[in-house]
Amino acid sequence: MPYKLLKELTDLEGKRVLVRADLDVPLNDNLQVTNDIRLKELLPTVEYLTNKGAKVILLGHKGRPREERVFELSLKPIIQPLSNLLNKDVLYSKNCIGIVAKQNINSMANGEVLVLENTRFEKGETSNSEKLSGEFADLADIYVNEAFATSHRAHASTYGVATIMKNKAIGLNFQKETEVLSTIMQNAKKPFLIIIAGSKISTKIGVLEHLIPKADQIIIGGAMANTFLKAKNYNIGNSMYEHNCVDMAREILTTAGVTGCRVQLPHGVTVADELKEFIATRSVSINKIKSSDMILDIGNRTLDVWQKVINEAGTILWNGPIGAFEKKPFDEGTTFLAKAIAESPAYTVIGGGDTLAAVQNAKIDIKKFSYVSTAGGAMLEFLEGKKLPALEALEN
Ligand code: 3PG
Repeated sequence: MPYKLLKELTDLEGKRVLVRADLDVPLNDNLQVTNDIRLKELLPTVEYLTNKGAKVILLGHKGRPREERVFELSLKPIIQPLSNLLNKDVLYSKNCIGIVAKQNINSMANGEVLVLENTRFEKGETSNSEKLSGEFADLADIYVNEAFATSHRAHASTYGVATIMKNKAIGLNFQKETEVLSTIMQNAKKPFLIIIAGSKISTKIGVLEHLIPKADQIIIGGAMANTFLKAKNYNIGNSMYEHNCVDMAREILTTAGVTGCRVQLPHGVTVADELKEFIATRSVSINKIKSSDMILDIGNRTLDVWQKVINEAGTILWNGPIGAFEKKPFDEGTTFLAKAIAESPAYTVIGGGDTLAAVQNAKIDIKKFSYVSTAGGAMLEFLEGKKLPALEALEN
């Protein structure tokens, strides 16, 4: 490994350890955490460090504020849930740099945990400014990156600070994520099925190109599938698709033909005149779509076919909902698919904020999946074979 693992850090007693964490967890309107998987996956690293007597300073972002304070994007709402999970009081600092942060850190006892406020409130975080990176580095003796979900961003708290600090390591969850995903890419049990869906091909094109040669079957769903249907000259009516990705979709279909990967596109879909909750819907075959129709979910007969493919798979990688699941009844296809994957005997890996929200919406216990990644975009970039900037910055 070109970088240090957490357990290779020595002499932790009394040391200030700055842990970049994935603290961007979904909140409801009352600012209550609605999905705590990222916090749960952070616990082993935090507990390892506190058990060694380190002072754990958590650094993280929430949302995309533009270098200014936004009340709803404060990290304060995670303090209580994190305290409950750790079974100890977690401290909070209303600034992540400067005198306030330093005072809070100076008054920490060994084994305590402090959360610093949203890094993206600060000027220079997303532009990876040297000044801000230096200010973060000034806060601690050791840096640990446990934010796999943000590792595709070269920001001051994920990249700049790590290039400055000498004593640094990769966190336990970050390590586990890279190991599991590497195994999938190199040794997936066959047949290897990839299910890629969601609204945009443009964000998933790389992963499709990279994984199609390794996959036996690929299911494409969601609005992404519409672009593929368009590439196959179907009339998709008023459905959402990416005009400038039609040629790319055509190329992917050609590559899949060459590598022998079977591409499963919907042949029956649920359509409506608009995306609205409980609006009248029709189930139609994809060659019977009217110009006013919007494809908003996958039809039952297609799902039956996909269920068979899922049942026969040795490994399944799933990212992205296959319908407009936020609005009923367009959640039905995604719920059906999520249940089929959860019940399948295959090794199942899922990831992405929307995918996890869809699983939660379907009321499926995430323990039913073999592996749940804390990341979305970073998972895709890693699977694409791209070098993650945060990992690069940890190299000695
Ligand atoms: C996340 O929280 O999922 C990642 O950090 C990505 O967030 P971003 O796309 O706003 O950088």
